[in-house]
Amino acid sequence: MNRLTKYLTLAAMALPVAATADPTGCDTGEEVLKFSVVTALQGHPKGEAALAYADYINAEMDGRYCVEVYGRSELYPDDETLFQAMLDGDLHFAAPSFAKISGYAAKADIFNLPFLFDGPLHVLEFLQSEEINQIGDQMSDDGFAALGYISNGMRQFSSTVPMRRPGDAEGQTFRVSSSSPVTAAVLDIMGITPMKLKFSEVYDNLANGTVQGQENTFANIQKMGFYEVQAAVTETNHTYIGYPMLTSQRFLDSLDAETRAVFLIGAQLITHERNRFAFELNQISRRSIIEDDGVVLALSPAEMQAWRDAFAPVLDEFKPSVGAEFVDAAIRINAAADPYN
Ligand code: SIN
Repeated sequence: MNRLTKYLTLAAMALPVAATADPTGCDTGEEVLKFSVVTALQGHPKGEAALAYADYINAEMDGRYCVEVYGRSELYPDDETLFQAMLDGDLHFAAPSFAKISGYAAKADIFNLPFLFDGPLHVLEFLQSEEINQIGDQMSDDGFAALGYISNGMRQFSSTVPMRRPGDAEGQTFRVSSSSPVTAAVLDIMGITPMKLKFSEVYDNLANGTVQGQENTFANIQKMGFYEVQAAVTETNHTYIGYPMLTSQRFLDSLDAETRAVFLIGAQLITHERNRFAFELNQISRRSIIEDDGVVLALSPAEMQAWRDAFAPVLDEFKPSVGAEFVDAAIRINAAADPYN
């Protein structure tokens, strides 16, 4: 190793690891654009979509722009600093979960309404409908633009006690990802106290017992190792995690029309392509948890019905604040969906 190579190697080791389409990094003269993700990159629905977007832009915009993707909260957590960084022009792309944007877009709370959708492929039909743009429209009031919508999957509860019924973890504290009153109402029915924590803080707080449970998708539970410090993951499929793929309107406005079209079309192509695999990636994660001696509890139809019955009042209570017509549109799309045929 000559001195220059050694210097470059040491310098690279000191830098945060970003994934780019070009493994040698961005070329001199290219404008670097940063994409921040809190989840894992490889093998995760959001991470894979972000990487695919970077690949697309880096190929289409070679010599002009270079997208770097940072995973596992390496650059920003999903909190206010992320949104501010986008508005300040320090960060160009992010995909915070719908739960984390409900302060900007009240309609995003639709995905916290329990059992509104029958499954992740039913939600996908909603994500592909015109209706979903109402969430992006609400974000635009605050200077954000939704380029597309990335799918993850359904939330499952996990706890230090194996849960088969809604009351089985009564008295415990569960980590929640947002201050959503809908989520708080769901946990209240279960006799559980919510504690808001960043995604990057969940594992340690489960491990040290500050919180005893949480709710998340199989992909998140497996990639972050939450199952290692929980007695069981209960397959409730009660709510949904997905993501608006955000940039700032200011960034879009700074581009000429042709360049802007590349960024917009790329997001549509990539989300359409990658969202088809989100269900499969969650199933692979589910299997990996079991293969690694994690416990996944499947519920009988009667047990599932007990969860549905327990949470039914939440829909009535929060339908008006989420938007009655918006919720009704989701109910119609879910009922008409036939994703397995
Ligand atoms: C994510 O999927 O981006 C994180 C979800 C969470 O905070 O639970």
